[in-house]
Amino acid sequence: MYDYYLGGKDNFAADREAARKIIALVPNAREIARTNRVFLGRAVRHLSASGIRQFLDIGTGLPTQENVHQVAAEGSRVVYVDNDPIVLTHAQALLADNPDTIVAEGDLLRPETILDNPAVRAHLDFSQPVAVLMLAILHFVTSDAEAARAVTAFRDAVVPGSPLVISHVTAGDLSESEVRQGDQIYRATQAGGIVPRTVAQVRSFFEGYDLVEPGVVPLADWRRDPDEIDLPDRGGAGIIGAVGVKRP
Ligand SMILES: C[S@@+](CC[C@H](N)C(=O)[O-])C[C@H]1O[C@@H](n2cnc3c(N)ncnc32)[C@H](O)[C@@H]1O
Repeated sequence: MYDYYLGGKDNFAADREAARKIIALVPNAREIARTNRVFLGRAVRHLSASGIRQFLDIGTGLPTQENVHQVAAEGSRVVYVDNDPIVLTHAQALLADNPDTIVAEGDLLRPETILDNPAVRAHLDFSQPVAVLMLAILHFVTSDAEAARAVTAFRDAVVPGSPLVISHVTAGDLSESEVRQGDQIYRATQAGGIVPRTVAQVRSFFEGYDLVEPGVVPLADWRRDPDEIDLPDRGGAGIIGAVGVKRP
């Protein structure tokens, strides 16, 4: 569905049908997806400029433009994790001859499947800062407690100075009934449901982290480059997020 929002070609009829239902309900769904990718680029460039050279991208999605390893500073070590076999196959094909980047199967909700994976531990040095990326994934974890548990497990696995990047859908102008309809559409797909969260809820995921300015904001406003073209804002649902750095 996300590939379809982004204008990709790696999607099935069932994905397109569900994505069209979401677009009928949330006409700015495509802008949300595009804004999210722009944020990914801004956040990874910002972290690269501050010296971060290791990235653990959880729920990486199908490769598209400006994937983490293409934006990060040269020589950065990147681990792409997903639990969808189709995503893994595409990512492996793209990265087959890139020694700085690996693809690993893992489940955000079972952090040990990622953190105890010998290939992940061989590729990343956990005695040095590792940026953990959770972009457009936590809203698929409908239980607040489970989402918080997953975030905490990764916080506890990295050293102080390690960044956390989160993006997350928020209800914006949608009514409660529209939010429920959206959840029902996603419930019928592999995603299993979707839950928008508020700025305060997303901020709570950053417990133990110092937020990088401007904190948790609509992604379009996160350290916007004045030369960048503005993405249209047509109202509707929104996408928010932030970058934090683990405190000592
Ligand atoms: C909307 S895409 C986001 C892709 C990318 N992170 C981005 O922001 O552009 C969400 C991805 O998360 C993956 N995903 C969902 N639940 C997951 C879980 N529990 N563990 C690992 N990956 C998961 C899906 O397979 C999908 O590829």
